[in-house]
Amino acid sequence: MTQRKILITSALPYANGPIHLGHMLEYIQTDIWSRFQKARGHQCYYVCADDAHGTPIMLKAQQLGMSPEQMIAQTSQEHQADFAEFLIGFDNYHSTHSEENKQFASDIYTKLDQGGYIKRKTISQLFDPEKQMFLPDRFVKGDCPKCGALDQNGDSCDSCGATYSPTELKNPRSVVSGATPVLKDSEHYFFDLPAFEQMLKDWTRSGSLQDEMANKLQEWFTEGLQQWDISRDAPYFGFEIPGAPGKFFYVWLDAPIGYLASFKNYCDKTGVNFDQFWQKDSEAEIYHFIGKDIIYFHSLFWPAMLDGAGYRKPTSVYAHGFVTVNGAKMSKSRGTFIKARTYLEHLNPEYLRYYFASKLTSNITDLDLNLEDFAQKVNADLVGKVVNIASRCASFISKKFDGKLTAEIAEPALLAEFTAAGETIAESFEKREFARAIREIMALADKANQYIDAKAPWVLAKNEATLTEAHLVCSMGINLFRVLMHYLKPVLPAMAKEVELFLNDELSWSTYQTALTNHSISVFKPLMQRVEMTKVEAMVEGSKENLQPTATAPVAKAAVAETKAAPAADSAESTIEPIGETINIDDFAKLDLRVARIINAEHVEGADKLVKLQLDLGNEQRQVFAGIKSAYQPKQLIGRLTVMVANLAPRKMRFGLSEGMVMAAGPGGSDIFLLTPDDGATPGMRVK
Ligand code: MSP
Ligand code: ZN
Repeated sequence: MTQRKILITSALPYANGPIHLGHMLEYIQTDIWSRFQKARGHQCYYVCADDAHGTPIMLKAQQLGMSPEQMIAQTSQEHQADFAEFLIGFDNYHSTHSEENKQFASDIYTKLDQGGYIKRKTISQLFDPEKQMFLPDRFVKGDCPKCGALDQNGDSCDSCGATYSPTELKNPRSVVSGATPVLKDSEHYFFDLPAFEQMLKDWTRSGSLQDEMANKLQEWFTEGLQQWDISRDAPYFGFEIPGAPGKFFYVWLDAPIGYLASFKNYCDKTGVNFDQFWQKDSEAEIYHFIGKDIIYFHSLFWPAMLDGAGYRKPTSVYAHGFVTVNGAKMSKSRGTFIKARTYLEHLNPEYLRYYFASKLTSNITDLDLNLEDFAQKVNADLVGKVVNIASRCASFISKKFDGKLTAEIAEPALLAEFTAAGETIAESFEKREFARAIREIMALADKANQYIDAKAPWVLAKNEATLTEAHLVCSMGINLFRVLMHYLKPVLPAMAKEVELFLNDELSWSTYQTALTNHSISVFKPLMQRVEMTKVEAMVEGSKENLQPTATAPVAKAAVAETKAAPAADSAESTIEPIGETINIDDFAKLDLRVARIINAEHVEGADKLVKLQLDLGNEQRQVFAGIKSAYQPKQLIGRLTVMVANLAPRKMRFGLSEGMVMAAGPGGSDIFLLTPDDGATPGMRVK
């Protein structure tokens, strides 16, 4: 097998918040793949960094009364501690706020500018006159220009689903200071993405992209590529643009450059040859593991920037889906927005590594962490199947044969079957079909247990005449266990290390095909405890945050959301709103509230927040668009009762006519709770 040169990255987590289990999917996926490549003997490096720039980080530091440098230093330590405990084996962990990154960002920008790929254009944007800063869309709130709903985001309305520009909002105000924003002109710098269209099309067709990603790119090409605004005005926490005082690189310009910077930092420490990986004709392989929300940045801007600045492009970009917990988006109030730290306080990191591995495929579908299934699967597979093989065989060998395995292998054909599976299992790992690899390994574990059950060495051991046979069976069991643990090593590195101590042997891809015979093993110690549901519950309790409103909550909420279109998870700081103005009984009587049954629910093409509902009111049906997509999967809704405002004037929306409104409680995001009457209520009943 020829040795490959491989550089692997995971997306750089933002330095303004803790690592949570959604993030962990990505780092676990990448780490398993990286450990696998290293185990196969390739020259492989895995690097990452904190993504330290941008408006949200600047504002969060202000809120905390720290300098951004202090805050990002503290966050970096916390992130690295979390990663280390989850056994994420980075070769290097750096920061985008680093000398190397500043160098690369300036250099790449200068080359792009020299190549004619940077355009300058004056644009008009909302400006906070009090804070003296331009406001990103998500930092402006106001009333919806279409339906008038109060307190909507700068880019879209939660109530009617309209999308608009923040300048169209009625009664706009700055989320940062509360001041009324004014329009102000400023010169911005744009990266000429459309100039790279042909190159990007060729790259897309090069064949190493996931189908879903190639399709997405195809859609973007059809829509037409746009100039990308890469500058932000001071005050901004980032790097100043060379030759443009007061203008800074937008965080997403220097973020992917952080991959180069972290690797350079590593190369400088170790003597690895940086250019061999990144120069134009390099034969090394480069892979970026990312979440599906940041495909645009990695499959359009990033390859175009690299190409325009004379570097090679990534071999591939591998996107994964999003983690949901118990079937819904992670939610602070439900206690399913679980921080890596909170998990670690209650549970063994290898449980999660195994569970994610057992569900990961090479595609972009979301992955549900169902906490009951999690406990059940880890207990059944790891404790009940894998560890069980060793624990049933080990003590007999220690007690009766001084820890020595037999000189012969009892069932060479069975062992050969286990080792022969290695290449297909390796292929599954290589293709990021971890779930398939785990299924293959567990099928073998079942076989090993069946073998031991059938031979019942505990019975053989009772009789002097069959003692040797018992010894053969147990030694065989230990050898089967050894092969399986070897396959599981990239997933369970800590347990594998314990097993190496127990077996007095290194689990290595070059030796696993040779059986252990005449070999002394150590005393067996329990390798893994069962997952206890009480600990899982304690973790969920520990994740339920104090949801009282705080004065700074609006900034914090917007801060999470600004830097990309789809925030990773909701961050509802407040579920309790003050009671508004009073109405009289006649006002109330105007509302015709009815019980309705949801007889159909579907996604709305092109809408981020809406679900299309078909409601049965007993004697008629209505179509209603409801902004509840972030909290419910459409199919979960079908068949449920809810309460609707039946006499709301129908409204024509971009997606069709909405004939009423369903009622829900909660602050928004994934914390939306549909009001559902108890069983017994029937469609059409008046709600009073
Ligand atoms: N800073 C950017 C990435 C810059 S890369 C040059 C960013 N940071 S992030 O902290 O929001 O997310 C880091 C990674 O975690 C992203 O790949 C993102 O998709 C992933 N995830 C964040 N939440 C997630 C889930 N709930 N589920 C799965 N992955 C998630 O984006
Ligand atoms: Zn609206």
